[in-house]
Amino acid sequence: MKNLLTLALLSVIIHAAIGTLSNELPYGGKKPKSCLEIKYINPSINENGIYTIYGSTNVAYKAYCDFKSDAPFVWTLIESFDRNIGVWGSKIPNAWHFQRPYTTNAPHNDDQPENWSAFRMPLVRMRSINSVNTTTHWRVTCNFNDYAQNLTKDINRDDYLRNNICDLNIVYTYSFACHQFDYVSVRGYSCVRCYFPFWAASNYHPTFLASHTVNYCGRYKFPESNPSHQESDFGHYNGYSTKHACSSYGSSTANWWLGGLYEPQTHTML
Ligand SMILES: *[C@@H]1O[C@H](CO)[C@@H](O)[C@H](O)[C@H]1NC(C)=O
Ligand SMILES: *[C@@H]1O[C@H](CO)[C@@H](O)[C@H](O)[C@H]1NC(C)=O
Ligand SMILES: *[C@@H]1O[C@H](CO)[C@@H](O)[C@H](O)[C@H]1NC(C)=O
Repeated sequence: MKNLLTLALLSVIIHAAIGTLSNELPYGGKKPKSCLEIKYINPSINENGIYTIYGSTNVAYKAYCDFKSDAPFVWTLIESFDRNIGVWGSKIPNAWHFQRPYTTNAPHNDDQPENWSAFRMPLVRMRSINSVNTTTHWRVTCNFNDYAQNLTKDINRDDYLRNNICDLNIVYTYSFACHQFDYVSVRGYSCVRCYFPFWAASNYHPTFLASHTVNYCGRYKFPESNPSHQESDFGHYNGYSTKHACSSYGSSTANWWLGGLYEPQTHTML
């Protein structure tokens, strides 16, 4: 009798444990490491927002996913910050987190990807997403939070940058060099597969100096960028333009993402 009772109790405990476990695994037991992997596991997922993904040691964490704005690209947000905190020499506490290349671990509000004005993932999470074999691209958008609140309007593509990680792997970049870029647009002036200089350093957020492109690499001139006045775009802001959407206002945001194309016909995933 006593044994039977123990058995019944044990069975209740085991069932409870299995129940909890299945609630924690919303992807049929699979552990996507990026938003794009979520899409491969569950192609019907199409809503932007906060999702659970898994780090390299299978620890769950929250990430902001964009399935919509550039479909069939799917993007995972790795960092977002406003001009106030991104400006070089900002006195805002913790501003240094937004003055570093991605080779430096400088997480901030790491479990609040919905904080568009000050969010940065820990280095290990960026590297985990970067290491997924479907992560092939990175991009920077401006004021994505405006779009996120109202999906009926399009994202800003006039101030926008996208590249592939073969030409420039942003997660491992900490110096100056010339690179080819898939697409760069500044104030609506855009260039496809052009050579541009790109800056990052140990105390320097990766930045695109539209004011300096005329003197380096492809020597492309962005109209309205003055070479004698530094214009850092998408970060660093040791000099910036209020005509650039990421730096128009103190509350304007730059949003950095890792992603890739959802191509179910050419990939057999997980
Ligand atoms: C976002 O983070 C900043 C800096 O850590 C903080 O001051 C602010 O209150 C946060 N905003 C929200 C909406 O949580
Ligand atoms: C969202 O965009 C639509 C179309 O531009 C507009 O009519 C609506 O007022 C916007 N809503 C918000 C909350 O901004
Ligand atoms: C990509 O990674 C997945 C999961 O780890 C694996 O099943 C697949 O074979 C890999 N694909 C390629 C092309 O390496």
